[in-house]
Amino acid sequence: MIKKTIETQVSVYTFEELESSYKTLINKAKEQVSKSYAPYSKFHVGAAVELENGEIFAGSNQENSAYPSGLCAERVAMFYANAQYPNVAVKAIAIAAFNNGNFLTEPITPCGSCRQVLLETEMRFEKDIKIFLYGTNHTFRIENVKQLLPLCFEKSSLNS
Ligand code: THU
Repeated sequence: MIKKTIETQVSVYTFEELESSYKTLINKAKEQVSKSYAPYSKFHVGAAVELENGEIFAGSNQENSAYPSGLCAERVAMFYANAQYPNVAVKAIAIAAFNNGNFLTEPITPCGSCRQVLLETEMRFEKDIKIFLYGTNHTFRIENVKQLLPLCFEKSSLNS
């Protein structure tokens, strides 16, 4: 028997330290929380996706009285972007969340289903997607989705 350790690399920034283009992307994600439809959880999430062609598509979580029918902000934004530009790779995604009258102090981290969807897009275009997880105290920068989803199931798993 051997034991393996899998590491995830996360760079921790203050907002001020970030490159201006990433600040812009995070600000778009922050703007989106006011458009979220979250009457049940009252947890408002915004996401902004930047494509390689410079276009930005943003979205927010959309809840439903039949709870599982709702969708997280990350998937709303990513599907929106992929639906508009099915042949353009994604460069980065930023995510922010607002709860009890404030943005979260520590970074919001995407759910497992969203990680799986982000991974599909990363694999589809064979291009790393940078991830910015915003909190008022710290922002995490992660270089690709694979870092967020080790031991993942993906397209090539179907042929193994
Ligand atoms: N949610 C997101 O939109 N993104 C996340 O990363 C975590 C959770 C939404 C789903 C639901 O509408 C609410 O936040 C509470 O879970």
